Amino acid sequence: MLQWKKNRKLLLAITGGISAYKTPELVRALTRDGFELEIVLTEEAESFVSPMVLSTLAGKRVWKQADYLSDGYGWRIPHIALAEWPDAVLVIPASAESVSRASRGEAGTLIGGILLATRSPVLFFPAMNVNMYEHPATLDNIKALRSLGYHIVEPDTGYLACGYEGKGRLPETDAILQEVWRTICPDRDLEGKRVLVTAGPTWEFLDPVRFLSNPSSGKMGYQMARTAWYRKASVTLVHGPVEKRCTHGIVTVPVVSAIEMYHEVIRRTEENDLIVKAAAVGDFRSSEVAPQKIKRNEDSLLTLSLVQNPDIALEVGKMKREDQVLVGFAAESTDLMENAMKKLARKNMDYIILNDIAAGEGSGFQSDDNRVTVISRSGHMLSLSGTKEEVAYRIWDVILSSKERPGIFE
Ligand code: PMT
Repeated sequence: MLQWKKNRKLLLAITGGISAYKTPELVRALTRDGFELEIVLTEEAESFVSPMVLSTLAGKRVWKQADYLSDGYGWRIPHIALAEWPDAVLVIPASAESVSRASRGEAGTLIGGILLATRSPVLFFPAMNVNMYEHPATLDNIKALRSLGYHIVEPDTGYLACGYEGKGRLPETDAILQEVWRTICPDRDLEGKRVLVTAGPTWEFLDPVRFLSNPSSGKMGYQMARTAWYRKASVTLVHGPVEKRCTHGIVTVPVVSAIEMYHEVIRRTEENDLIVKAAAVGDFRSSEVAPQKIKRNEDSLLTLSLVQNPDIALEVGKMKREDQVLVGFAAESTDLMENAMKKLARKNMDYIILNDIAAGEGSGFQSDDNRVTVISRSGHMLSLSGTKEEVAYRIWDVILSSKERPGIFE
């Protein structure tokens, strides 16, 4: 786990919306991920979720409206103590009423007092009936919250508890978690930058059911995309067929073949500041795809005729402007350094990330961990190892602290 993700403290301010019934699941997920929590409920919220359930799951008491301005805690005034404690405050769900009150800085409730007193980042998760959400008054209040520096996480669209379909659903727990990580991430050095990442394998069909591919799971590319998003980049992820993951906040472009990936990458190269090629792109495809499933026959030999796919990184390298950064990955098993350096030069890359795919467990394809060497255009090298999330984050550290290309990130 990234160092800055450890031992973090969150205050959950739960207000009176029907989706408050989902907060016990959120509390379980957050405590499982190592967060220490304080939980505050509005009076209305107590009608939607049991304080007893929440305190059992959080492993500590929850705070209620009755505790506001209470003299039961001596000099430790709850709304001040609770305001200064957390790394971040989540108003979740944020009812229309709580949005309205906070937009005017009202302090008549414990949560209102905390919001005025805290200097920690505050995330609002508005969730309500679609008509209430889209009412001009609510939208004006949300705009006012943004102008006060609060971070608003838009609700999802879909089936609502009140029987309507529309925008107003509390986001899924994974999405909430990603928003929390992005808020508390200490680095914002990709803010305003557009990042394009490729990940996963490609499938090159031989007939309707068989294809050539490789063991790429997409984990490394996904972590390059996710950690760039933590660092406030706008991220687009072009990925081959991989398992479903939470891609909240990231624009995803699913593709199947190398040709499709080529077109989706080339058409986006111009508009992006950094391009990271972590995908294991199939180098060959069948010269023709059989219209029907190829049948076994008496011969034991089946000859395939393959043609080369375009080298996407090579084409991107040709298009690359001086103010863009191209990062490739090299999956090598022999003459690692020599092969990686050749690719870096031939494809006009600024960095190539060498991973030894023959190194077994803990490196390369499929694994949750990786061991890489970051090689820059001028030949500087740095070895990194750890989870693919840690490796990805450190790769960004290297690229963004690089003195070799001054001015790109000023
Ligand atoms: O997905 P995981 O299971 O997490 O595994 C991660 C990984 C091992 C796939 C990843 O770390 C990695 O090494 N990705 C690059 C794999 C690869 O295709 O390496 P290569 O040496 O064949 O290609 C070199 C570079 O050219 C890569 O940036 C690749 O994306 C790019 N390339 C290659 C062929 C091609 N036709 N077009 C390309 O753009």
